[in-house]
Amino acid sequence: MIQLQNIFKWVNNGANRIFLLKDINLEIKEGEFVSIMGPSGSGKSTLLNVIGMLDGFDEGTYNFFHESVHKLKEKQRSQLYKQYIGFVFQAYHLIDELTVYENIETPLLYKDVKSSERKAMVADILDRFNIVGKRTCFPHSSAAASSSW
Ligand SMILES: Nc1ncnc2c1ncn2[C@@H]1O[C@H](COP(=O)(O)OP(=O)(O)OP(=O)(O)O)[C@@H](O)[C@H]1O
Ligand SMILES: [Mg+2]
Repeated sequence: MIQLQNIFKWVNNGANRIFLLKDINLEIKEGEFVSIMGPSGSGKSTLLNVIGMLDGFDEGTYNFFHESVHKLKEKQRSQLYKQYIGFVFQAYHLIDELTVYENIETPLLYKDVKSSERKAMVADILDRFNIVGKRTCFPHSSAAASSSW
């Protein structure tokens, strides 16, 4: 379902080419649970950004289901991302100006989930993480940042 073949990603620094990913070959089947391990700076986040379609690459092929990601234009790639990819970022990336409720709701707005369904999904998440009382707080407010958030 996820298949990377001979993936290279680099940056050019003057006459030097610095490889961020070098000849990565990887196959992940549906239902498989995979951890990527390596020292700091080895390229884990770079690889995840490629797999997660947040970032492109310079050489190689990437097949996701029946889509050839390497052939897609950025707009088509982001459509695929919206449909299939979920991401928990190392640095959270919560939106400071939005409340807890709105932060949870935002990706659903981008996915065009209709209002009533959205409300139900956000309510469910707030409930599951036991943060219903914090729905109107902002990420950096002391109330939102306390132990259960
Ligand atoms: N755009 C870029 N230009 C130059 N170097 C870059 C660029 N992006 C990433 N790097 C370098 O590529 C290497 C891989 O970075 P990456 O963040 O993927 O590592 P990581 O394995 O996720 O590390 P950590 O465990 O610290 O999160 C690092 O040395 C980083 O400085
Ligand atoms: Mg990282």
